[in-house]
Amino acid sequence: MTTTKEKVLAFIQEAYPEPISGQLICDKLTISRTAVWKAIQSLKEEGYDIHSQGKSGYYFTQPPVSKVAISAQLNTKFIGKHLTVLPTISSTNTVAKQLADVTPIDGNVLIAEEQIGARGRLGRTWNSTKGKSVALSITLTPSISPTNASLITQIVAAAFVLASEPILPVKIKWPNDIVVNGQKLCGILTEMSAELTEIHYVVVGIGINTNLDITDFSDELQKKATSFALQLGQKIDPNQLISAFLNQFEHLYQEFIETGSTEKFLTICREHSAVIGKDIHVISSKETRQAQAITIDNAGQLIVKFNGDTESTPLLAGEISI
Ligand code: BTN
Repeated sequence: MTTTKEKVLAFIQEAYPEPISGQLICDKLTISRTAVWKAIQSLKEEGYDIHSQGKSGYYFTQPPVSKVAISAQLNTKFIGKHLTVLPTISSTNTVAKQLADVTPIDGNVLIAEEQIGARGRLGRTWNSTKGKSVALSITLTPSISPTNASLITQIVAAAFVLASEPILPVKIKWPNDIVVNGQKLCGILTEMSAELTEIHYVVVGIGINTNLDITDFSDELQKKATSFALQLGQKIDPNQLISAFLNQFEHLYQEFIETGSTEKFLTICREHSAVIGKDIHVISSKETRQAQAITIDNAGQLIVKFNGDTESTPLLAGEISI
C-alpha cells in the first residue's frame, strides 16, 4: 500500500525540475496542508533533498531516483518486482545480503542515492555522492554452479552497455568496470552465499556515476573516473537509465539461466571490450606482468598472452590495467 508520504514524494519527483505547490498536492491527495508539511518534514529527515520556494512549492535540484518512475518503465517479469529506493544507506550490497540471509527474493532490487559504507572490489571503498550517483544491488537465486557465478558480472556489464548505448556509448574493462575513454563510469561487485555445489544467493551491485561534477571526485580520481554528466555536458535522468538497465539485464540473464548459453552476453562483452587487442598489465598479489589481451572465451575468461610466452593463458578473474 502506498503511504501519504510516498504519494507526496511521487508528486515532487514527477514535477522535476519544476516545483509543485503544496496546495496542489493537498487538492490531488485530498489531505490537509499540515499533512503535506508533515510528509515533507519526514522525507527530509529520511535524507531527501527537497527544497521549497515560497508559493511555487517543493522541488528537487537534482534529477531524483524514483520508484514510481523506474517501475513505470520496467517491462520485466521478476527483476525489480520488489524494488526499494532509499536516499541513504550503508551499502546496497551489504543490506541486500543481510535481507537475503533471512529470505532471498529472486530479482529483489535495492537502490540508494548515497552510500556511507560503499564497498568496491578487493576491499576497496567506492565513491558515492548523494543525488549524483546511483547504487543498485540485485539479489538472484540462480540454479547454476557457484563456479559460474562470476559470469553474472559479465551479464551486468553487457546489460549496462546496451542500456547506456542510446545515451552514451561505453566499453567494458574486463571483468567489472564500465569505462569511457579509459575513465571509469561504473563498477560492479558480485558477491554470493554458497556451498561447494549450490548457490544460496548472489547479490550483484553496480555503482553508477550519473551526475557527478569533477569536484565530486578526489584529486586522485579526477583523471581515472568520470560521470555521464561530465561526458555529456548535461545531467541525465537516472530513472530512465536504471529501468533500461534492469530490462536489458533480465533479458540476458534469463536467456543464460534457461539455455546455459553465454553466447549473447559474451558477444556483447567482446564487441564492447576496452581491452581485447590491447597491451595490458595483469596485476596479482605477487607481481605485475605485461601481456596482450587476445579475447574472452565462452566461459568468460580473458585469454591473454604474457610477454615472452608462446602459449596463451586464461584468466578467470583478476585485476588488469591498460
Ligand atoms: C569496484 O569497482 O571496485 C566495484 C564497485 C561496486 C560499487 C557498488 S555500488 C552498489 C553496491 N554496493 C556496494 O557497497 N558496492 C556496490
